[in-house]
Formats: sequence, structure tokens, C-alpha cells
Amino acid sequence: MAGITLSDVSKIYDDGTRAVSDLNLDVQDGELVVFVGPSGCGKSTALRMIAGLEEISEGEIKIGDRIVNNLRPRDRDVAMVFQNYALYPHMTVAENIGFALRMRKVPKDEARRRIEETAKILGLQEHLRRKPRQLSGGQRQRVAMGRAIVREPHVFLMDEPLSNLDAKLRVQMRAEISRIQRQLRVTTVYVTHDQVEAMTMGDRVAVLRRGVLQQFEAPQRLYEQPANLFVASFIGSPAMNMLDGRLERNGDGMVCKIGSASFVLPAEIVKDRPALANHVGKPIAVGIRPEALDQSESQNGDTGVLRGRVQGIEALGSELLAYVDIEAKPVLVEDVLEGIVDMEAAKDIAEIKGDADGARATVVARLDPSARVHPDDVLELAVDLRRLHFFDLDSGRTIRA
Ligand SMILES: Nc1ncnc2c1ncn2[C@@H]1O[C@H](COP(=O)(O)OP(=O)(O)OP(=O)(O)O)[C@@H](O)[C@H]1O
Ligand SMILES: [Mg+2]
Repeated sequence: MAGITLSDVSKIYDDGTRAVSDLNLDVQDGELVVFVGPSGCGKSTALRMIAGLEEISEGEIKIGDRIVNNLRPRDRDVAMVFQNYALYPHMTVAENIGFALRMRKVPKDEARRRIEETAKILGLQEHLRRKPRQLSGGQRQRVAMGRAIVREPHVFLMDEPLSNLDAKLRVQMRAEISRIQRQLRVTTVYVTHDQVEAMTMGDRVAVLRRGVLQQFEAPQRLYEQPANLFVASFIGSPAMNMLDGRLERNGDGMVCKIGSASFVLPAEIVKDRPALANHVGKPIAVGIRPEALDQSESQNGDTGVLRGRVQGIEALGSELLAYVDIEAKPVLVEDVLEGIVDMEAAKDIAEIKGDADGARATVVARLDPSARVHPDDVLELAVDLRRLHFFDLDSGRTIRA
């Protein structure tokens, strides 16, 4: 087994495109790390450099304690699973899985044993004699996985292996890959543009934007403590509400203004995040997760609530999403919008972005499914102030302690 270390790794393509810049990260032995980010952010390039399919322009990559910069792909002991896996149509499942073993002249008995073990892990025992065309999409994907597993590599590299599958199958295979990875404990790097996939599969998730690593952390921490506006907007669905705000002093404490509403920040927040004081009077972005908004019990006017008209509702059974027009200026994270290939996610964000030039924003609140909310209602939303996120608008960075 082996971990992977990337030190100051960059990729500049021949035409001058800087696809990856100064990437530093380590994947622990047996860990599953996901690279996620919008289309074109450099995920595949980074993965292909680890695989040896793309030359490294700068920096160093280690697998285990070997520097692999100059090793050929086949000498790196990695196995790759791609989006467009091509199975050999004229070969059976067993032959497809065992192909690499035959190339390596692995003795027949051993090959048969390894093929059978692999088929067992993947639940393909019954199908070993079939041809690919006699399989479902999910089964075919499993055969593609099998070709990687049977080689018993030190590292799995997967580039959007599930994007050809329909949504339901994708969810199933996602769980399956996680299970297999845990069972085999093979160090794995998994590339996806789908943040839900990243969050559900990764032990840790590396968020990339324009070739630059934004944050590398366990999923829950990414969600709770995003390092900057980009990560905050990219991770989470529906996306975090991002509003233009301003901090003002209020005696010993502090008030946060959003549009015409003002919120007295709890003393412990002001104490825990002294850096907020440096931003008094300056424009900041205030981030509010949909679940940090709730239907207010009392009618409070402008203090402590966001007030607006309900534009639309999505009742999802387990929750109710209410889209509410409020008087506030939205903060747009342009390249989150531009880069998103997942149209569902893009729609979510487009819906909440509101009216960029004006002073109207649409926020989304995640409410209890039994909430009595109807389109055109005027709704007051209570804000869980302990869960507010604050960002410096110039740098985009989270304002931390
Ligand atoms: N062979 C190449 N020559 C020049 N530029 C390239 C080459 N391959 C990729 N690029 C550019 O490098 C950047 C990163 O590409 P990459 O394929 O790594 O992105 P990605 O994050 O995998 O995107 P996607 O989610 O769309 O697969 C992009 O701007 C892309 O246009
Ligand atoms: Mg890619």
C-alpha cells in the first residue's frame, strides 16, 4: 500500500494554458480523496499527472516513497477507471476483467483465482460468461472497475467513472465504490464535478478552482467552515445564500446589517471572532445556509428577521424549500455559476441569485415539510446567527478568528 504526495505540482500545457498551479497535498495510505471543482478547474489534469499520462511541468509527485515524475504509467502501480471505459465487446466479462493479467503473463490458475475474487467483490459471479452487450449499464461499469481491481494496484485513480450512468444508478454505484474501497483499503483519488458525490464519498475533499487548491478537508468541515466565498458557494445544495452586508458597532457588541434588516450578533460570536472588528464599516458578504433560516414565530418588523414575499416553493417530502424575495443585495460568485456543469445545481444557484444590480435578492430557506407557506405569502425568516458565515469581499476569504 502507498500514500501519494504532491509537492508544488504545476501543469502548463504546450499552448501556455496553466491547468494546475502549485498543488500541494497528500493522500494517506488507504484513504479516498476526491478532487472536485467546476469544469476546467484542472481535476483531470492533476489526476493524469499522478497516473503518468501527463507530464509534470513543475514539482514532484511521490507514490509511497518513490518519486514517480519520470516513471512510465505502467511502472507506477496505479490503475485508472475513466468515464468512457471501453470494454472489449467480443470478450466475456471474465476475459475483460482478466485482460491485464493476460498481458502480464500471470499464470492461468492465479489469474482465474483473481478474476473470481474480483467478480465476487463486485457481485458479477453470475455474469462472468456474458458479453458486455448482455449487461446493464451498472454491470458494465462494475466490469470496468473489475479491470482495475484485479490488478491489485497500490493506487486507484478514477475520473468521473459514473457520469455515464443515470441518476439512480449513480447513487447506487457511488455507495458501491465506497464500500469496495473501504474493503480493499486501496489509496484512491476520485475526480468529480458533482459536489454531492464528493461529499458522500470522500474521506477528504480537495476543492479546486482555476487550477488552484482552495481547501482540502473532511466533507463536514468544508461545509461548516468553508475557507472562502468560492468553497462556501460551491459546496452545499441548495447553495449558501450570499448577501451583501455591513458590520456596525453597537456598544460593546456588534450589529450586522443586511438590506434593511439588522441583527444584533450574540456576544459569543463577537468574542470568538475578534477579526470581525477589523471589518466594521466595510462591505462584507454574509453567508446563510438554507437550514439556518426558519419561519419566524413572532412578527418582529426589521429586527432579527429577513422579511419578504414567497416567490416559489419546492415540497420535497423530507423538507420544504421556500424561495423568498428580500430587500438585500446578493453577492454573486461568478465563476461558481459559469463553471457549473451540473444543470440542476446551476438552476438552484441561478434561482437564488436574484437581481444583481438592484437591491433584491432571493434567498432559499429549508423549512419543515409541514410548514404552512404559500406562494405570495409575506414571510419572516428568523436567522440562526450562530451559523452565519462572514467573508471579506476583497479577498473572498472567510473572516475567521
Ligand atoms: N491538452 C491540453 N492542451 C491545452 N490545454 C488543455 C489540455 N487539456 C486540458 N487543457 C486545459 O486545462 C484546463 C484544465 O483541464 P482539465 O481537463 O484538467 O479540467 P477538469 O477539471 O477535468 O474539467 P472537466 O470537469 O470538464 O472534466 C482547462 O482549461 C483545459 O481547457
Ligand atoms: Mg475532467
